Amino acid sequence: MDNLPYTALIKFPDIIPEHCDEHIVRRLTSMRGQFADQPAYEQLLSNEDMLLYEVYAFIQPEVDGELDSGISIIHPGKVGQEYFMTKGHFHSILDTAEVYYCMKGKGVMVMETPEGDWNVKDLNPGMLLYVPPRWAHRSVNTSDSEDFVIFYVYPAHAGHDYGTIETQGFRKLIVDQGSGPQIVDNPRWLAPEDRK
Ligand code: F6R
Ligand code: ZN
Repeated sequence: MDNLPYTALIKFPDIIPEHCDEHIVRRLTSMRGQFADQPAYEQLLSNEDMLLYEVYAFIQPEVDGELDSGISIIHPGKVGQEYFMTKGHFHSILDTAEVYYCMKGKGVMVMETPEGDWNVKDLNPGMLLYVPPRWAHRSVNTSDSEDFVIFYVYPAHAGHDYGTIETQGFRKLIVDQGSGPQIVDNPRWLAPEDRK
């Protein structure tokens, strides 16, 4: 029997776990086509393939009953007016939820259902967020200077479906038009009935 209880130290102020099963690193190149302002994206990329976010993952077998957890760190920055964010996804097994706990920084979770309902929740340190089954989710760092650090836990058999979001993004974008974070419509987004 090798599936034993374990602990991990996730200590302030850095909140980087002392060990994990996988350290996922996402740079600008892995977000091609995801930011609304394509020229701004190309301009940034011509300087450097910047680090946008990292995930320190604790991974269990992909079976019903197990839980995966970890820490996501979204670094501060913008592509044009749009804040740095995660790719975002539906769970492949749509009827699976996720819990987030904000440990540091500030940001929002952008969410939507396959039917096109949307929701955006602010997150500050100490806040818990429950993402119900069926809601796609994307974390966005709305600070200009600080990392946005969130702990997550979700069913290990959930899987990740990035396809729909990659095609047209979320219905809402989080942008700074000069007065801080604002929710605006994504011009690329199509209602489910208008998609081919
Ligand atoms: C797991 C989950 C988070 C994200 C992480 C990175 O289901 O929602 O652990 O995987 O915040 O975001 P993505 O996976 O969208 O690149
Ligand atoms: Zn998820």
